[in-house]
Order: sequence, then C-alpha cells, then structure tokens
Amino acid sequence: EKGGHRHFMAKEIAEQPVVLADAIAHYLQDSGITLPEPGLDFTQIDRITMVACGTAFYACHVAKYWFEQIARLPVEADIASEFRYREPPIPARSMALFVSQSGETADTLAALRYTEGKADRIVSVVNVLESSIARGSDLPLPILAGAEIGVASTKAFTCQLTVLFLLAIKAGLDRGTLTEAEAEAHLATLRNLPGLMNHALQTAPEIERVAKELAEARDILFLGRGAMYPLAMEGALKLKEISYIHAEGYASGELKHGPIALVDKTVPVVVLAPSDALFDKTVSNMQEVMARGGKVLLVTDAEGAHAAREGTWRTLVMPGVPPILAPILYALPAQLLAYHTAIAKGTDVDQPRNLAKSVTVE
Ligand code: M6R
Repeated sequence: EKGGHRHFMAKEIAEQPVVLADAIAHYLQDSGITLPEPGLDFTQIDRITMVACGTAFYACHVAKYWFEQIARLPVEADIASEFRYREPPIPARSMALFVSQSGETADTLAALRYTEGKADRIVSVVNVLESSIARGSDLPLPILAGAEIGVASTKAFTCQLTVLFLLAIKAGLDRGTLTEAEAEAHLATLRNLPGLMNHALQTAPEIERVAKELAEARDILFLGRGAMYPLAMEGALKLKEISYIHAEGYASGELKHGPIALVDKTVPVVVLAPSDALFDKTVSNMQEVMARGGKVLLVTDAEGAHAAREGTWRTLVMPGVPPILAPILYALPAQLLAYHTAIAKGTDVDQPRNLAKSVTVE
C-alpha cells in the first residue's frame, strides 16, 4: 500500500506529479476552467474571506497573493481558531472559502457555520467530498489528491494550491483583470508543472545529504518573500511536525526586525527564493545572515544560483518556473527537506508524536 516506499509520506510526496496532473485535467477542459454546478460568478463578489488551519491555511495565504495580483480582489486569510471567536464582520458581496483536506477540522467547520447566512457564497476546497465541510458549503470543490495517510500534509497542499490558482484565474477572467491570452499563458505554465515537479523530485539524493547536516540543528529559520513567505511557514511547519526541530518561517523582510538575533553558525537559514523581481532584496537578506556566520541553504533556480554567487552554505537548484507558480513547485524541496531530516533523526515520520491526522476537537 506504500507503493514500494518506506513511508506514506514518501509515497505521497512522490505521487504529486500524477495527482496534480489529474486535478488539472479535471478542472481544465477544452472549454476552459470547468467548475461543478452551480458554478461561480466573480463579478458578484467584492471580497473573499479564506479560513483554514495548519497547512491548509498556508495554502490560503499563498492564494491571497494570487487573488490580489491576478484578480485585484481583496482577500482576508485567517486561521479558523481565531476567526470563529472574533466574530468578524462579513460585508455584502463576500465569498467565504474554506480549505480542508479532511473536511472535518472542528475549528474550520465552526468558522463555516459562523458565515452561514452572512456570506453570499460558501465555497470549500476539500479532499473528502463526503465530509461535513463539503456538505456545509454551497460549492464543494474536490482537490482530487486521493487518500492522504501521512499526518504531514503534502500532496493535499499542492492540490489545494492548484484548485485555488484555477479559481484566481477564473476570478481574473470574470472581473476583466486578466486577458484571455494572459490566462492561457498562466494555464500553460500550470499544465507544465507536473513535468517540472518530476525534475524537482530528482534533487532528493542531494536533499538527503543536506538533511543529514540539518538534523544536527536545534533551530532552523525559513525565509521567503511574496507568495514564498507562506511557503516558508509551511516548510517550517513540516519540519517541526516530523523532525521535532524548532523551525520558524519568516518573511525575508522581517529578518532584521527580530529573528536575526537568533542567527549564528548553529542556526541554518533555509531561503526559498526563485529568481523573481525581489530576488536582489533576498540576496541582501542572505548576506546579512552570512555576515553573522549563519549557514544559508538557498533553494532557487539556475539563474538565482548564479546571481547569488558564493557564500551560501548549500544551494539546491530547482527547474525554472514563472515565479507566480513557484510556491507549488518549491513545496516539494520543502517537504523533502522535512522528510529526510526526520529520517536522519529516526523519528516516526507517518505518525509524529502528539499529532492527529484530523483535528476534530478544538
Ligand atoms: O484536514 P485539514 O486540512 O483541515 O487539516 C488542517 C491541519 O490540521 C493540517 O493541515 C495540519 O496542519 C497538518 N498536519 C500539516 O502537515
């Protein structure tokens, strides 16, 4: 049942190119982006409130960047345990969007109940269509990841992002902030992603070597800018969940507002940075780390590796991808880093201590 892999998590990481291709084929048909009935009309929506927990929340946080950039739509993304008790106002023409692999997370379900009768539309992005969250929404969208057994969410995350990206493109087309040609270019990039993921997975042996050294650390920082910032938090969450190493994800620009005080030669800093418009700024953040003896593990593309030159401790080179979709591709090295670090530490990867796959009590 583990398909020849040592752990469910390894299997679930490895099958991402296939499940992603299936999800894309399901939603992207000849006629364009196809949603189940009753569909969605983003001209009726002025704002999206996204709510989730854990990894699903980081998927929402990435998607906030997409909806804002592609569809110029204001988005609030919040964790369900805060949202549900805050009693936030839900203005007219709001869409409430809930993301949950299991569809049974207690806080997310309670947040959904709170928006009933207040939001114009309640949409969910779920892996389990027969779940409470799917049943409670008026448009449940399956992510089609197949059963996810490992407690650390991997393929559900990249499939959630895929569905959210397609929604952002649909929103851009409906609202006229995106031309057909621009949408087609984004969709072509999305269709190429499974192939790029296969390339990214080939860095596993290199990641395994780096992970043996990361396993010695007590604290690890993850940095990213733009939509790579939530991915930095996701990378840190994955690592702490299964390797029990303390890890924090930060926006690169926040480094000098506090966390840089932690940096010395014992604290590795993982920088998730495809070469994009803000890459130079990230290079200066890395230099600040290196000047304090910090060990930088840079995850970038060939162009980024060249531009960053020397000084990094290790560099992992990913295939080139238009920056907007980098969060999906770079999720793979983040997952592999956590996985191999946990293996090096000898922890129980599929059943980490104190954690449940589905958190059905608050
Ligand atoms: O089933 P859900 O997607 O609602 O679960 C949400 C979180 O509990 C979940 O993503 C958790 O953070 C994972 N263990 C992360 O790997």
